[in-house]
Amino acid sequence: MFNNKKGLLLSLSVASSILLATGCSSSTSGDSASGKSGDLPAVGATIYKFDDNFMSYVRRSMDDSAKGNVKLMLNDSQNDQSKQIEQVDTLIAKGAKSLAINLVDPKAAQTIIDKAKPKNIPVIFFNKEPDAAVLKGYDKAYYVGTTSSESGVLQGELIAKAWEANKDKWDKNHDGKLQYVLLKGEPGHPDAEARTKYAVDTIKEKGIQVEQLALDTAMWDATKATEKMDAWLAKYSDKIEFVIANNDGMALGAIASLEKAGYFTGDKFMPVVGVDAIPEALEMIEKGKMVGTILNDAKNQGKATIDLAANAAKGKDVLDGTKWKLDDSKAVRVPYVQITKDNIQEGKNAYK
Ligand code: GAL
Ligand code: CA
Repeated sequence: MFNNKKGLLLSLSVASSILLATGCSSSTSGDSASGKSGDLPAVGATIYKFDDNFMSYVRRSMDDSAKGNVKLMLNDSQNDQSKQIEQVDTLIAKGAKSLAINLVDPKAAQTIIDKAKPKNIPVIFFNKEPDAAVLKGYDKAYYVGTTSSESGVLQGELIAKAWEANKDKWDKNHDGKLQYVLLKGEPGHPDAEARTKYAVDTIKEKGIQVEQLALDTAMWDATKATEKMDAWLAKYSDKIEFVIANNDGMALGAIASLEKAGYFTGDKFMPVVGVDAIPEALEMIEKGKMVGTILNDAKNQGKATIDLAANAAKGKDVLDGTKWKLDDSKAVRVPYVQITKDNIQEGKNAYK
């Protein structure tokens, strides 16, 4: 279903192309990182699919943090939950002392725990948050990610502020309402659900009337977002006053479609927002083609994941020697940050 070659061709910058290209193999990697990683404790890890723009940055941070610290065996689960479960079996057989798991399906956490728990292997889930009850059921299970709702609230605030400052121009039909289309991430994904809900709720709470013209999933994916946006432009054209995307990948896909339709030249403009603050999106903000985004700190999430997994693999307390804190649900939550042209450097620093 998901074709890596397609992802490669359509990736949006040279940098991400390189990251994706190295990600096309599903074999384990990381052994070469330190030269003599054979002596280091082994951490078994999976990424739900390497062909995901944001996750490619998390992965890079994990690789960097693992160097000289642990032997990282990293697998591409290629968006296939049953494949991921087989990978976990193999990682355990290969002697992984802890697991760092980016689930394909957030509901599959229990299945992973059922494999790790009998062998007393700690599991650090990251990026796709499992149900709290499942995490609670195993004392050696943790989560590294964010507070999903926070990204929606921050995005809603950013939209409201930009709208208030520009509504003379942006309220094209002068009805006082913000007519939007929304590109949603993977349905059932805690980030996609929370961003969709809280972004719109927050705009309304700020006293702005909204009207949803269209909402559909583009599965976090730029190409799918371009297709959706093409169709929406054909159907609604000038009626659309705002494009809200659950992530930057889809925002970039929408921008590609808008450019084809003549936007961002002369007076023709469309406000677009995303989440992640990946470098390609920051470029669009600088060019004035994107209003803003919400920094999803890939570097710190990747680092925290390895910090906890490394400690767990060494039999230490997961927080030993780190700056991280666990909340009541055994989660490390890295904060989101609003990014616009004014503080773009903050976004750049996070992806350096
Ligand atoms: C989100 C991120 C998306 C996508 C997703 C994968 O946190 O914003 O771009 O990478 O994770 O689970
Ligand atoms: Ca309007």
